[in-house]
Order: sequence, then C-alpha cells, then structure tokens
Amino acid sequence: MDAQTMIELCKKHTLYAWSANDTVDPLAVVRADGCYLYTADGQKVLDFNSQLMSVNIGHGHPKVIEAIKRQLDELIFVYPGTATAVRARVGQKLAQLTPGDINTFFFTLGGAEANENAIKAARLYTGRSKILSRYRSYHGATNATMQLTGDPRRWPSEPGMPGVIRVMDPQPYTFSFGESEEEKTRNNLTYLEEVIQYEGPQNIAAMFLESVTGTNGILAPPKGYLQGLRKLLDKYGILMICDEVMAGMGRTGKMYAFEHGDIIPDIVTMAKGLTASYLPLGAMGLRDHVADHFRKNVFWGGLTYNSHPVALACAEAVLDVVVEEKLVERSASMGKLMRSEMERLQAKHRSVLTTRNIGLFGIVETQKDTKGTPMAPYNGSHPAMAELGKFFRQNGLFTFQRWNNFMCNPPLTISEAELREGFEIIDRGLEITDRYVEG
Ligand SMILES: Cc1ncc(COP(=O)(O)O)c(C=O)c1O
Repeated sequence: MDAQTMIELCKKHTLYAWSANDTVDPLAVVRADGCYLYTADGQKVLDFNSQLMSVNIGHGHPKVIEAIKRQLDELIFVYPGTATAVRARVGQKLAQLTPGDINTFFFTLGGAEANENAIKAARLYTGRSKILSRYRSYHGATNATMQLTGDPRRWPSEPGMPGVIRVMDPQPYTFSFGESEEEKTRNNLTYLEEVIQYEGPQNIAAMFLESVTGTNGILAPPKGYLQGLRKLLDKYGILMICDEVMAGMGRTGKMYAFEHGDIIPDIVTMAKGLTASYLPLGAMGLRDHVADHFRKNVFWGGLTYNSHPVALACAEAVLDVVVEEKLVERSASMGKLMRSEMERLQAKHRSVLTTRNIGLFGIVETQKDTKGTPMAPYNGSHPAMAELGKFFRQNGLFTFQRWNNFMCNPPLTISEAELREGFEIIDRGLEITDRYVEG
C-alpha cells in the first residue's frame, strides 16, 4: 500500500487520539529497526521519542520477537484465573527487580488500567475514598485516571470521578522565585500538609505522583521531596502511589525513578517500557503490607486480558534485555552525553529557555525573548514551534512537541553517533526558533 492510500484510509475509517481527525498528518510507517523508523515514502527517521517514550530497547529486538513467537506456539491465552509458567516467572522476576518489599503484581493492558486498579487497591486497603494528585501530571485517559491528570487533557472529561484533590507541584515557580531546592521542598510539603488537614486525613486513601514527571515537563523532584513526602504521607496513613508508567524501566538511569529519592512507595504502576510497547501490558506492584490485605480480602478488580501469556512472555524477554544489555546503566551514562549536547545548544541558541534531562529522559524549552517568556504559553501554540516541528519531520527526526517544548527520549540502546545525529538536526532546527526571538 502506498503512503497516500495508507493515510487516507486510516483517516477515513479510524479515529486518531487527542486530535480532530482532519488535522492529523500521520507518518506512514512500514518498518522499524533499532532507533529508526522507515516510511512508505522511503524516508529513514530517527526515533528521538521511543514512540510514546516507551520503546526503550529499540525497535525489532530479535530476542523479544523470538520469545513472543515461542509463547504463541506454547500457549496463547487462558483466562486470568489460571496459573501459567510465564505468569509465575514474570511475577517472580519483577519481585526481584523491584526494590524493597514490592513483591506482588497485578497485570493490566496498559498504564491507565494499572492506575485505575491502584485507585481501587488503595481505597479497598484504607477504607478511605479521596485521592491526591498533582497538576503537572498525566495518569491516563480512562475516566478516573483522567481526573487524576492535572494537564489540560483533563478539561473536556470534566466533571469525572469525584474525590480527586489536585495539588501544586514542588517546583511550579522555578523561574520566578529562585528558591533553593530545599526551600521548594519545605514550602511545598508545608502547603500539602495544610491541604491534607482541610480535606481530613482520615478521608484520604492515597497520593498519586509521577516520580519524575513526564509529558508535563520532565521534572525531577527537588532535593528531599520524595523522602519528605514519604514521611508526611506515612504520618497520616495515606498510601504513596508512584506512577512509573513513563519514568520506569530504566528511562531515568535507575530501574524505577523513585530510586533517585531512596524511598519505596506503597504501590508502583508501570507499563510502556515493561514490554517496550511491543505488546500491551501494564502492572501494579504492591508492597507486602498492601498485598497481604488482598490475601484475606477480595481484590475487586479484573480484566479479560489480565496476565495475558503472550504479553507476559514479551515482558520477560524485555526485562532480560534491559538487564543483559545493562540499559539502566546505559541510560545513566548516555544521559551525560545528552546533558553536554543540551548545554552546547543552550549556549549557542537564543531561543533555548532551558533544557533538562535525567538519564535519557530529556526536554528542551524555547523562549521568545531573552527574558525567559516561553515561545508558546501553557496549552498554547506559536508559529515558530509549528515551523520547528515541520523542520524535524522533513529532516528525519521524530519527537514530541507541545507548547514551547520538545522531547528528547530516544531508545536506551541509542549509540553515541545516533544521539549526536539527533542533536545535530535539533541544532539546525533551533536556528528557526532563534529567528523569532525578540529583543
Ligand atoms: C505517567 C503516565 N501514566 C499513565 C499513562 C497512561 O498509560 P496508557 O496510555 O498505557 O494507558 C501514561 C501515558 O503516557 C503516562 O505517561
């Protein structure tokens, strides 16, 4: 099928996410290998966002493809009430790879469902109903997770599930107030404790947070925040739920991003990198004290595709690749090269407001004047960003762009030369945004 037919039929008969269908301009992809996508038009495109920050091991890994094929021959599907060898192995492997006493896992089809089930687990365990979450967050597109989500994708789904209390993030005023990291942590936790008092701690089941915020800005928490938050939530018997759907599985240079803060959440959720998106799978991991509750009490949750054998075989092989190819360590070390490339671009381009990365989880923010005014406002657009996006597309760089920023989240397998190639395209692209800088 040629590219044009592919695009026309896809747009005519299928709906694209988060868009008005007529406005989408999809890449017509026919093949993907390593860090590259290949289009029906013959273009080779560097995948600088691992698709949805998820193809962490790169495209088409032969070991994973082999494992999926083996499982297809062995056993494709049985209902979730059965025991299977692959389920036994993956549960055990995740318990070994996940820090602390997070030893019990519930499998879903993706991240939103992992979070949905974490809401249920927290409410059933605590007997409380309210849930805290933060504004700079995305937790999924289902009804309840949309309400946990802070960003504007929530607005059209309101009003949704009641009982969600959204609070400010620890660093919303980074550029205006210039506090130290410790001050940001202290101020935010003081504010949060006051919110908890007003809501009644005895009513709050859990707090959801992305251990390192993803689509809302690649925001690592300020020093001491995770530990301080852990203490504060413990004080009131509120469960801590770390959403590691995007930040987990090595993306930040640790297996789980919460490890940067030396804490263990009560519940962790994951998806994306768990199968590198080769097949749909998410998981909720429970600490022993929460899991023990459900050994005696019913867990009121279920899915037809819970613990799907083929998805689990895929996860098993992906986890092996992550460990054997030392991708967590690789993310940390290649993250240093990303840092130096970002600093080089920041020094060279007037339009770069700031850059951040932790491991291979990175972002570039642009400005429209040298005073730090974002090129596009929150939830807004600007012609310079549209032009930049077009340039990336024409020059073979795939990434995500939103508001005044674009992402740098390549597969953790990316080579030094490929990473430099990506930043070389970005370097040329930023000449476009530079031309729009006033003053
Ligand atoms: C932090 C986070 N949580 C949850 C989700 C939802 O995961 P899914 O799209 O697999 O339902 C995402 C998706 O981008 C995410 O980034």
